Amino acid sequence: MEVRPPGPKGRLLTGNLLDYTRDHLGFLTRCARRYGDVVGLRFVNVHVYLLNHPDHVEYVLVRNNRNFVKSRGERISLGFLGNGLLTSEGSFWRRQRRLAQPAFHRERIAAYGGVMVERAGRMVAGWRSGEVRDVHEDMGRLTLEIVARTLFGVPLRPAEFEEVGDALATISRRFTGRGGVFFQVPEKIPTPGNLRMRRAIRRLDALIYGIIRDRRASGEDAGDLLSMLLAVRDEETGEGMTDEQLRDEAMTVFLAGHETTANALSWTWRLLAEHPEVESRLFEELREVLADRSPAVEDLPQLRYTDMVVKESMRLYPPAWAFGREALADCEIGGYHVPAGTQLIMSQWVMHRDPRYYEEPGEFRPERWGDGSAEQLPKYAYFPFGGGPRLCIGQSFAKMETVLLLATIARKFRLHPAPGERVTPQPSITLRPKNGMRMVLERR
Ligand code: HEM
Repeated sequence: MEVRPPGPKGRLLTGNLLDYTRDHLGFLTRCARRYGDVVGLRFVNVHVYLLNHPDHVEYVLVRNNRNFVKSRGERISLGFLGNGLLTSEGSFWRRQRRLAQPAFHRERIAAYGGVMVERAGRMVAGWRSGEVRDVHEDMGRLTLEIVARTLFGVPLRPAEFEEVGDALATISRRFTGRGGVFFQVPEKIPTPGNLRMRRAIRRLDALIYGIIRDRRASGEDAGDLLSMLLAVRDEETGEGMTDEQLRDEAMTVFLAGHETTANALSWTWRLLAEHPEVESRLFEELREVLADRSPAVEDLPQLRYTDMVVKESMRLYPPAWAFGREALADCEIGGYHVPAGTQLIMSQWVMHRDPRYYEEPGEFRPERWGDGSAEQLPKYAYFPFGGGPRLCIGQSFAKMETVLLLATIARKFRLHPAPGERVTPQPSITLRPKNGMRMVLERR
């Protein structure tokens, strides 16, 4: 008889769904610590294995990656991204990935650095010492603006910001609570949540199709992602990408490319405010490397501590806190049989806080990334950007952006939690601060 991996006993009908729904992060963490490297769960009739060993993550993402597709929950919840890079599969995905790749090459990305610093500088120029701001909202606007300008060559108007921000927030809220991204009611059912979601998507569609139309009409080659995708011709038919495919890719990059980075920064501000000794050391480095000027791409190799701060922040608050796969054919993981159709969850939140790999895992200690201990880590004990062929295409973009924005802003301001502000992580599509993050600004 096949042995199922151990796991918490569930309820008759819903299995473990309600316990998961109540507290995604706590539930998965407790399961991992109690039941080990492979945990068997059930959400209603869906069998789910939670994988908690770096080797198992590597097996799924790298060694046997062709046996897995995105999880069923993700296919449903991210269905509005159509056939974009995040959600497509097989040879179609491979082709699109190859086409988009040049927009994310090192040299290309270096050219975006100037825009990042300029936009961040412009934002802090409007900040006043002593004022209380929702820093998470600010980070969201900033990163959205950066994606829009660097990859699509468009400055967004203030009204458009509000629209895109609201629409994306509606979409994110849709996946909070219940089964989150792992268990969803199909979108076709007209629940109030699904209707709100459809309206939000229509608004984003209108904006994105507008951008595509304008660029087609101007015929300009701006050298950005949009131009690259527009210039593509099929080798056999000579045809270009349809507007619908361009829309899917654009929607994907808007979503994947802004909220993740915004979250990384928001959590970093919070952690710095709670750890003045880290904040001082960060400021010391900025003063030493930059003196009285803004950072530039060329400074990145010298901003070593700044980089460690971001790395440590994404360990404790990984913007992509978990993701899933579905097995196409039977396989074996950690000695357990995995039947075709099993859903697999890998959680950065759980792994990044595993005491087997991190000393004092709950502590914010950027130094751990510079004292040699990180070299001992198994590769997939830290995987904020995933891995294997489906590794985040925006990884270098995001790493550069977080360091440059942090350096630009921290040179000018110190941030303190607003009085009475309690911030809790909300595991939606990304790990966001529930109710934003209000902070008091102090000019340096
Ligand atoms: C801190 C910031 C970011 C984090 C933590 C992050 C995380 C991730 C992760 C974990 C995946 C893999 C998902 C999976 O395998 O199922 C992914 C994929 C992806 N990310 Fe990111 N990401 C970030 C920033 C960005 C940025 C800035 C962009 C674009 C400008 C971007 C675009 C994408 C795309 C298009 C994919 C799908 C790639 C593919 O499957 O070929 N991401 N990201």
